[in-house]
Amino acid sequence: MPKLKILKLEIWTKLKLGLDGAAGDPSTEAPNVAWTSDFHEPTAHEGIAWSSHEPAPLVREGRWSRRHSVLLATPKTRSFKVSATSIEANNFALTGVVFQPFEEIKKEYLAVPITPNVSMARQTYSDECEATINEQINVEYNASYVYHALFAYFDRDNVALKGLAKFFKESSEEERGHAEKLMEYQNIRGGRVKLHSILMPSSEFDHVEKGDALYAMELALSLEKIVNEKLLNLQSVADRHNDPQMTHFIESEFLTDQVESIKKISEYVAQLRRVGKGHGVWHFDQMLLHEGDAA
Ligand SMILES: [Fe+2]
Ligand SMILES: [Fe+2]
Repeated sequence: MPKLKILKLEIWTKLKLGLDGAAGDPSTEAPNVAWTSDFHEPTAHEGIAWSSHEPAPLVREGRWSRRHSVLLATPKTRSFKVSATSIEANNFALTGVVFQPFEEIKKEYLAVPITPNVSMARQTYSDECEATINEQINVEYNASYVYHALFAYFDRDNVALKGLAKFFKESSEEERGHAEKLMEYQNIRGGRVKLHSILMPSSEFDHVEKGDALYAMELALSLEKIVNEKLLNLQSVADRHNDPQMTHFIESEFLTDQVESIKKISEYVAQLRRVGKGHGVWHFDQMLLHEGDAA
């Protein structure tokens, strides 16, 4: 009986894909195939349904829009060709290979840790992703701290721009909320939250030429752009470690809000540049104070 090899393929297909690299239908797209497991000798328990010289017919032509993992067995010396089709459209058995959960869980990396301070939930979560999430928590806390200092400045009795005070207070709370969301995520993935130091921000924000309102808003704009840079770095770290769940989290929970914040604060800077340092700032401040009020 010929020796068999077991191939695990992950297929993202449209139709008629030649998976063995052999000449296929030139009109079809090149396959996107990931080889994800070692070849090894099948055992009697692995449920291989065929062992002849010809590979079992896996699937037939058709459309397949989702990702599928399949197992194939084939004689070591032979190449073969597979076409993909929709399971929904045809009731063919895919491979004849039966998933054996109690065999699969014997793999060493799936063993549940018994050390008390080691996460049991952690799976395919890299140390670099964990460290970069902790760095981002610190970035968000720093932004929150600067905004809190700005709130305290504009709330002074001799400054009294209540709209700006309100805006920066809400911004501070929002950044703290971002830090907390990242903490929760760190715990979901089985990482450990490590808080770093927060730098002391300035407490004076008046500027000879720009005045305080414009100066503060320009500061906020620069800060939001730095935060955005850090988020993009976080996303690229997750991407580099092939962590699609983490990239999805960063993209869906942070990146859109961040560019929207940058747009909004840019508009505030533009408006403050128009109104100058005097009376116009009062009106701008009133606009911020009543933003969100019912019409
Ligand atoms: Fe943020
Ligand atoms: Fe922000």
